[in-house]
Amino acid sequence: MATVNIKPVAGALGAEIEGVNLAEELSNEAFDAVHQAFLDHHVIFFRDQHDLTPDRHKAFGRRFGTLNIHPYVSGMEGHPEIMEIIKEPEEKTNFGGGWHTDMSFLEKPAIGSILHALEVPPYGGDTLFANQIAAYEALSDGLKETLQGLTAIHSAGREYGPKGQSAMNRQSMQTREAGDAPEFEHPVVRTHPETGKKGLYVNPAFTLRFKGWTKRESRPLLNLLFEHSRQEQFTCRFRWEAGSVAFWDNRCTWHYALNDYQGHRRHMRRVTVNGDRPF
Ligand code: SIN
Repeated sequence: MATVNIKPVAGALGAEIEGVNLAEELSNEAFDAVHQAFLDHHVIFFRDQHDLTPDRHKAFGRRFGTLNIHPYVSGMEGHPEIMEIIKEPEEKTNFGGGWHTDMSFLEKPAIGSILHALEVPPYGGDTLFANQIAAYEALSDGLKETLQGLTAIHSAGREYGPKGQSAMNRQSMQTREAGDAPEFEHPVVRTHPETGKKGLYVNPAFTLRFKGWTKRESRPLLNLLFEHSRQEQFTCRFRWEAGSVAFWDNRCTWHYALNDYQGHRRHMRRVTVNGDRPF
């Protein structure tokens, strides 16, 4: 096996992995090294994965679990498990342009998403990530204790409903409006099923309110948690190149696709791995 090198990119989270070609089937040893880096650093990055075909992209994802077919965004022709995230030069709105955790609006949200860059703008279009375990650990003991007993209600309705940014008609992405999006309950403090670490599990895009609280009652505490969780010390920033891959752990991170490259094209492909019910 080529030596797998792991280089952290920031104090809070994120590591670049060298010595792995995702276009080839990974040996168990290489897979274990990648898996451990994913658990240790919460988001991992690979460069120069130019030969990663849709089939190999899916095969890498399947090493971690079954693949998700997005309920509201159409998949790639012939590959329903691959979401094409495209912004054309003349489009103004991007996909994922706000802090969120993918698929927290499902009963069993995703383990993680694997994003492959095919075409990137000459500048901008970076993705930010935020470590929700670090955000939780930085809270006072008093607030941690209060949050421990709380459950939050998540839904796709705000993003994919009639007025949602993610449901906007785009030239480049086909979405289905979620008029009827169901609500699901998840603990506000989630225990990571593989590491046992506790992290915050609410996000500005899909968390509507606390269970048993009104929206108005929930808003101040949710806003406090949202502001707290996106502080610079919990984040890292990834500069894409064509061929780059990012694989983030949706169970303990947020991410934000920056929309600062008007007039340029950005084309990514995303495979999302299904997960378990949070506890
Ligand atoms: C996403 O939210 O999955 C999109 C991230 C990106 O395009 O950088």
